[in-house]
Amino acid sequence: MSQKQKLSSAAEGGISAEPFQNLTNLAVSEQDISSRELYFDRVAATWEEEHSEAEVDSALQALVSRFDLRPGQVVLDAGCGTGRLLPLILREIGPGGELVAVDFSEKMLEIARKKYRAPNLTFCRADISQFKSPGRFDRIICLCLLPHLPDKLLALRTLRTNLKRGGQLIIAHTASREEVNAYHARLPEPVCHDQLPDSQEMTGLLVAAGLRLIELEEGNIYFLKAFRDEDQVDKILR
Ligand SMILES: C[S@@+](CC[C@H](N)C(=O)[O-])C[C@H]1O[C@@H](n2cnc3c(N)ncnc32)[C@H](O)[C@@H]1O
Repeated sequence: MSQKQKLSSAAEGGISAEPFQNLTNLAVSEQDISSRELYFDRVAATWEEEHSEAEVDSALQALVSRFDLRPGQVVLDAGCGTGRLLPLILREIGPGGELVAVDFSEKMLEIARKKYRAPNLTFCRADISQFKSPGRFDRIICLCLLPHLPDKLLALRTLRTNLKRGGQLIIAHTASREEVNAYHARLPEPVCHDQLPDSQEMTGLLVAAGLRLIELEEGNIYFLKAFRDEDQVDKILR
């Protein structure tokens, strides 16, 4: 079984993304995904110590307060890594909520699984672009994930499908877009070309994915909120 098939089979079943497939970047190969998966497996052991200074922790707290999380919500942490967001989300959604943490790196998930356990927290190893659970989530959080997705349109369409009506997608970084892109440019292959698109490209991607922008902050941090745009998708499907 190929790497992509293995990851897809780990994802939950759901509607097909076929109507959209012809509009996405077909040049993105299995290799783009598996080379990044290997990269994140390699850095998993040292990830936390390199990304958990006090400053970052307080920035994370501030970000979470903007996710508009409420008790009982169903939330997807997309690209959860070692799970630094999980306790913060669980605190907001309470025992009546549900949190699904998805990552394609087994090593990242191994650390997250050991650190965080709760009856309403489940982990899933999957390529987020292939993870289909239609209409399930009130919030989908992509913290420090988007630059690493080689086919951003495909990923955004899948994420949109997974949102409930009225559900929100949040894309966030604890640094500015320029800082994120400069940081990635200093990393080795295959992630050194992983970039956060500028606002014009991002807006185009959201529209094409059937998402409507609510908020975009490109200051000291990057913070984007969008919701399912029912009208837009009707137009795409017609
Ligand atoms: C920069 S780390 C951020 C981790 C976490 N969100 C955080 O902020 O601590 C990116 C994470 O996304 C995961 N990732 C990257 N591409 C992915 C994909 N296509 N599907 C699922 N996970 C992915 C990586 O394995 C890694 O754990």
